[in-house]
Amino acid sequence: MSQRVLTGITTTGTLHLGNYVGAIRPAIAASRAVGVESFFFMADFHALIKCDEPDRIAHSSRAIAATWLAAGLDADRVTFYRQSDIPEIPELTWLLTCVTAKGQMNRAHAYKAAVDAAVAAGEEPDANVSLGLFSYPVLMAADILLFNAHKVPVGKDQIQHIEMARDIGQRFNHQFGKGEELFTLPEAVTDAEMELLPGLDGRKMSKSYDNVVPLFEGGSAALKDAVARIVTDSKLPGEPKEPEGQALVALYDAFATPEQRQAFRAALLGGLGWGDAKQQLVAQIESQIGPMRERYAALMANPEQLEAILQTGAAKARAIAAPFLQRLRAAVGLRPYTATAATAVARTEKAALPVFKQYREADGKFYFKLLSAGGELLLQSSGFEQGREAGQWVARLKREGWVADAPVQREASETDVAAALAAFQQET
Ligand code: TRP
Repeated sequence: MSQRVLTGITTTGTLHLGNYVGAIRPAIAASRAVGVESFFFMADFHALIKCDEPDRIAHSSRAIAATWLAAGLDADRVTFYRQSDIPEIPELTWLLTCVTAKGQMNRAHAYKAAVDAAVAAGEEPDANVSLGLFSYPVLMAADILLFNAHKVPVGKDQIQHIEMARDIGQRFNHQFGKGEELFTLPEAVTDAEMELLPGLDGRKMSKSYDNVVPLFEGGSAALKDAVARIVTDSKLPGEPKEPEGQALVALYDAFATPEQRQAFRAALLGGLGWGDAKQQLVAQIESQIGPMRERYAALMANPEQLEAILQTGAAKARAIAAPFLQRLRAAVGLRPYTATAATAVARTEKAALPVFKQYREADGKFYFKLLSAGGELLLQSSGFEQGREAGQWVARLKREGWVADAPVQREASETDVAAALAAFQQET
């Protein structure tokens, strides 16, 4: 079975170099691995909790979507969507809210931080706490559990939320699963590199420290300005400089090959001036970011294209989410009253599912094909001498999902095929 990796980015701001190096670049690289099914989304429901400026949320969502694509995300290969395009997410949030202990939410770091800040300011403890902020971890659990993600790459500050998602998923399985696992229990993945990129002042690059290098915003001029503000020591050109511990060197490393890193260190030890070093750093970053910035500008100038990509992504995500949610509704007792209605519901669900067709051709051989819910050809088998062989392959694909060495011709992207096959695993 392939590994499902899922992560979201809250759409409240624009991205900086730390987000790119720490989250986007490794996530895109990981999404290219075989056996990995990636889900990336704009967490715009989460943005509503932190931000009450509608225009800023709308702009941020669009900018972040364009950033992922400009940075090389292949939307055909992964499932790339806006959280708010998936109505199954808020619906699952409610089902999960009903099995979540309030006491557990009381212990969430983000909530406690808000309470501490209010108390310190001499206000009521819950003065600045909306129910949205309070139950933020439940919404995040729904994001993750709805797609049965195995791995969730996040920054350290989010580990507690993943643990809560596990906990909530486990409680739900226990209460409604009747011995069967409804939800996969997710694991947080933290990457040391994620925490490493320093900002202009040497502390971790972060909006809240006002020490960021913008990724695309402001163009190459903004990049140059930011680099000019990197704090160094006061050694003059010609004096040997200790490279280790310098924010400038760590930033250079993030965009350089091992050979380039070594040469840069040697030049500093040999007396390279900080001004020249900064010029080299700008050139180094620009060589990677420059071409992406152009793609970013093109995507931002073409909202129709961006919108179409996200609509496709939403359809792909919902092909997985909708049938699964039907199962969860039934598990908690939200069921049609009559058997006829139940079959009707089942029939609409069936109609919305992909199908395997088995048949025999004039050549006497047995074949099968997989059609999407919409009737599009996804897989075409080669001919089998025995009907049984074809049947066994169909059973195996239904059970295990996409098998790379299956004797079939793949007619659609691997992600589309995997998403269609996933529907069979949830069916049983
Ligand atoms: N809360 C995360 C953050 O602020 C964003 C997020 C929302 C997320 N839903 C998620 C991350 C699900 C991983 C999985 O960084």
